[in-house]
Amino acid sequence: MKRSDGDRALSMVTAYDEPSARLADAAGVDMILVGDSVGNVVLGREDTLDVTMDEMIHHTKAVIAARPSALVVADLPWLSYHVSVDDSVRNAAALIRAGADAVKLEGGVQRVSVIEAIIGAEIPVMGHLGLTPQSVRAMGGFKVQGKSVEAAEHLLASAKALEAAGCFAMVIEGVPEVLGTELTRISGIPTIGIGAGPHTDGQVLVFHDLLGLSASQSPKFVRQYADLGAIAIEALRAYVADVQEGRFPSESESYGASQALSEHLEN
Ligand code: KIV
Repeated sequence: MKRSDGDRALSMVTAYDEPSARLADAAGVDMILVGDSVGNVVLGREDTLDVTMDEMIHHTKAVIAARPSALVVADLPWLSYHVSVDDSVRNAAALIRAGADAVKLEGGVQRVSVIEAIIGAEIPVMGHLGLTPQSVRAMGGFKVQGKSVEAAEHLLASAKALEAAGCFAMVIEGVPEVLGTELTRISGIPTIGIGAGPHTDGQVLVFHDLLGLSASQSPKFVRQYADLGAIAIEALRAYVADVQEGRFPSESESYGASQALSEHLEN
């Protein structure tokens, strides 16, 4: 699915549970990402760094419960593929056993041996380059990457290395548009952009950002397609008012009883 071959762009969205996966699948997305962004988006944490394997397995199973037709990619969380190659393969396998079709991990040239080992265990791997959130401490914050010629060249070399290692696609996050375009041009595998401009082979967004359900201000690259947060608050306010004023539940929202039971209880 390279747009340079005339293919259409790929769509990917995150989901962390059955309802979000069901909705994303019904909308026809190509890929669902069980992102480790579950940490900040759903579990209310500062970043993704303390998301565990157990949590990723839990949320992957919840997404799989929707039986989506979309390809389900699950994130390997921080430290699940940094300590040893054996651990990395076992952790990737645990996400596959939870139902994922593929795993995603962050990093470039330095991840090649781990990627090769995971692929050697018959597990498809999606790479992730650029603003990689698990490196937030090393990067000194969530900052656009690849801005200097040297940094851009390093990312281009990493993209080549991920492709050579056997990744089937890679996420490109938070880089200047020209670099997103060049990374896509030099790669034989699809690039899925997020904050990488319009010329990547696909786009990914966080479910809660695109639907207006996020607690914090979304980054500049997010397009919010609906304000479900405002709709939800309005509906919840109406429910609270109906309960407080005795309008809920109505007769039709209550269970009836036989005449015998009614008469018995009335006496
Ligand atoms: O965890 C996540 O949501 C991601 C996307 C931002 C690509 O990795």
